[in-house]
Amino acid sequence: MTAIFTVPVSLAERSYEIIIQAGLLEKLGRNLKKQGVGRKVGIVTDRHVARHYLKHSLEAIQRCGIDPVPIILTPGEQSKTLKTVEHILDVLARHRFERSSMLLALGGGVVGDMAGFAASIYQRGIPYIQVPTTLVAQVDSSVGGKTGVDHRLGKNLIGSFYQPRAVWIDPLTLDTLPTREWVAGLAEVIKYGVIADESFFAYLQRNMSDLRRQAPRTVATVVKRSCEIKAEVVAEDERESDRRRILNYGHTLAHAIEKRERYKWRHGAAVSVGLVFAAELARAAGRLDDDTADRHLTVLHALGLPTTYDPDALGELVTIMGSDKKTRSGTLRFVVLDALAKPARLVGPDPSLLAAAYSVIAGQRRGPRTIDL
Ligand SMILES: NC(=O)c1ccc[n+]([C@@H]2O[C@H](COP(=O)([O-])OP(=O)(O)OC[C@H]3O[C@@H](n4cnc5c(N)ncnc54)[C@H](O)[C@@H]3O)[C@@H](O)[C@H]2O)c1
Ligand SMILES: [Zn+2]
Repeated sequence: MTAIFTVPVSLAERSYEIIIQAGLLEKLGRNLKKQGVGRKVGIVTDRHVARHYLKHSLEAIQRCGIDPVPIILTPGEQSKTLKTVEHILDVLARHRFERSSMLLALGGGVVGDMAGFAASIYQRGIPYIQVPTTLVAQVDSSVGGKTGVDHRLGKNLIGSFYQPRAVWIDPLTLDTLPTREWVAGLAEVIKYGVIADESFFAYLQRNMSDLRRQAPRTVATVVKRSCEIKAEVVAEDERESDRRRILNYGHTLAHAIEKRERYKWRHGAAVSVGLVFAAELARAAGRLDDDTADRHLTVLHALGLPTTYDPDALGELVTIMGSDKKTRSGTLRFVVLDALAKPARLVGPDPSLLAAAYSVIAGQRRGPRTIDL
């Protein structure tokens, strides 16, 4: 019997559970029955994930007398569009899905965001379940109910808050994940440690080589603790009016880098640089001690994540940050730390602070550890 971890996401009548269990994909049918699912279930996935897991998942569901409808999407951020959501809706309508029908999102964040959005608008909302298969999806995108698609004028510009009925995580699915996807997800894991749990961050730092080689016990701990932290924050502030903003730690600069790189960079890679920048900003402002700021850089670098960026880009990045959808009236806002697990806000920092923090990103010489992300 493999261990089962359950993490509650407490959101009044929208509460649900995250279940983490190795081999859970084999139990999809039984778990769907327990959810009281009707006859119709759609499985939204992408071609890469389908190659590894669709056949088994369909069989596990069919064994329980349910006839699932697979909806296989083109992998990648480029397909996270309204057009693809329209395709999902077409399939649901053609198969006469009803209010009691269910969608399963089997895949990474791209699949999860789109399946969730389609579920939120088809017949004004049908239930859906997240079955995330990337580290990013298991520790971040599947939890919290943000769904949506990109618009040509902005990433994630169209969407809704719509909570799943459950999140079912099978950590074994991470075995087939390309290393660069695993490492990109670790940037968010490090973020959780530093914003919310000093001892988790210390654990990550102690277990660096197990983290790098994806040792199963470390994977289980990482996924469970990250889900707990995200679930706690989301439960306190479902619609991101205040507390949930701490999850944007490192993301102000990261979003600007992603935009400047025309989304050719992995999100996690940009977040890594953003985390170093946020730590340096707090250090430069005299708010964060040297040791904690240094630990940001050391850990991210040791994982193979980038911690440097174009030395000449600060001006451009400031302009991009100033025009972000989350920037009100042109004033830059950062989440910073006053200490580990003590997040705070830094509003409208002086340009000299930005320059001081950026000089670390621009100036480090730390050798070629970075994995090609
Ligand atoms: N809703 C949220 O709160 C939230 C939070 C974070 C990120 N996101 C969104 O998530 C997306 C990024 O998610 P992602 O990093 O999972 O990217 P992704 O969904 O594009 O997956 C990355 C790649 O891995 C492949 N893949 C997935 N699972 C696999 C597996 N088990 N084995 C082998 N290959 C596998 C996919 O086909 C894809 O090629 C972005 O669109 C981002 O906006 C949303
Ligand atoms: Zn992120």
